Amino acid sequence: MTKVLRSVVTGVGGYLPENVVTNAELAKVVETSDEWIRERTGIRERRKAADDEAASDLAVAAARRALEAAGRTALDVDLIVVATTTPDLTFPATATIVQRKLGCPVGVAFDVQAVCSGFVYALSVADGFVARGRAKCALVIGAETMTRLMDWTDRGTCVLFGDGAGAVVLEPQEGEGEVTDRGLLGFALRADGTKQDLLYVDGGPSTTGTRGFLRMQGNQVFRHAVVNISEAIHAAAEDAGVPVESVDWFIPHQANQRILEGVAKRVGIAEEKVISTVAQHANTSAASIPLALDQGVRDGRVKPGELLLLEAMGGGLTWGACVLRL
Ligand code: ACO
Repeated sequence: MTKVLRSVVTGVGGYLPENVVTNAELAKVVETSDEWIRERTGIRERRKAADDEAASDLAVAAARRALEAAGRTALDVDLIVVATTTPDLTFPATATIVQRKLGCPVGVAFDVQAVCSGFVYALSVADGFVARGRAKCALVIGAETMTRLMDWTDRGTCVLFGDGAGAVVLEPQEGEGEVTDRGLLGFALRADGTKQDLLYVDGGPSTTGTRGFLRMQGNQVFRHAVVNISEAIHAAAEDAGVPVESVDWFIPHQANQRILEGVAKRVGIAEEKVISTVAQHANTSAASIPLALDQGVRDGRVKPGELLLLEAMGGGLTWGACVLRL
């Protein structure tokens, strides 16, 4: 059997800002209630970055933990891909700011913008380097300060999002070309720009010249979510050569508990295999999958050698799924 190079996750890390904002606190700002938010979304609280905390600061904290878990240092890193929709600055890329703050040597560093699907997209992009022998130690990070994009008068959106960052270290390892190999085994990435109006930010440097606020037709996004994600999950599983039912853990983007459960049911994944952090983290966009993975690894549920299914959907619309063996 021919050996193949695989991108293997060798370390995972997460970081949440200290400031916890409960549903009850938000009910003082907009006309809502803890009960409504919990029933419709599963969210109980979210984190909010301090005024002097930028996306790169959250990314750096998560990256340090991932490097430590992998037994690597910043000096080993030759590729940084940051998935973010809330960069520190319009440019340079948040990834190069992370590179400077971590003290990594000259290498490759850039951002990926696919909103909530950003982490799955970023993993696929990084795989293109690592599995072709073009990077030896890659940091793939999802880092977001979504609370900065909120219109605090819009109860339909401001209760849904939170801040945080998660990171993984990817390193090349030789595999047998079998589904038993460790590493990234399959992907399905999708985008449909005709659905832009369902979820977007109404500002930007080349249009309004302002940052803008997040706008969403939540019930429309919800409607697309379950169907679209399910198709991508089947395609990623086929790409990996495994049946969906064989995954040990389902680690979805954390937007809404009802979406998580709806997708799991539709693709035949048992409830106890779903890692959910939506109650504590809310929707942290590109950070939500690596944060949930970090939680699963640190609390001892997710173990090396297990088969994981990741999926996400976000603004664009974009969506996608990834199957990997830890
Ligand atoms: N508190 C109280 N009432 C509210 C709130 C709130 N926070 N928000 C909306 N409502 C009201 C609405 O005004 C509406 O009232 P009306 O019937 O009098 O007009 C009613 O609740 C129902 O509104 P819907 O939007 O239809 O409610 P729905 O059950 O669809 O839940 C939600 C809304 C939670 C946003 C849901 O649609 C959802 O989770 N959608 C998906 C979001 C998502 O997955 N986003 C994807 C990724 S995000 C990214 O990429 C950046």
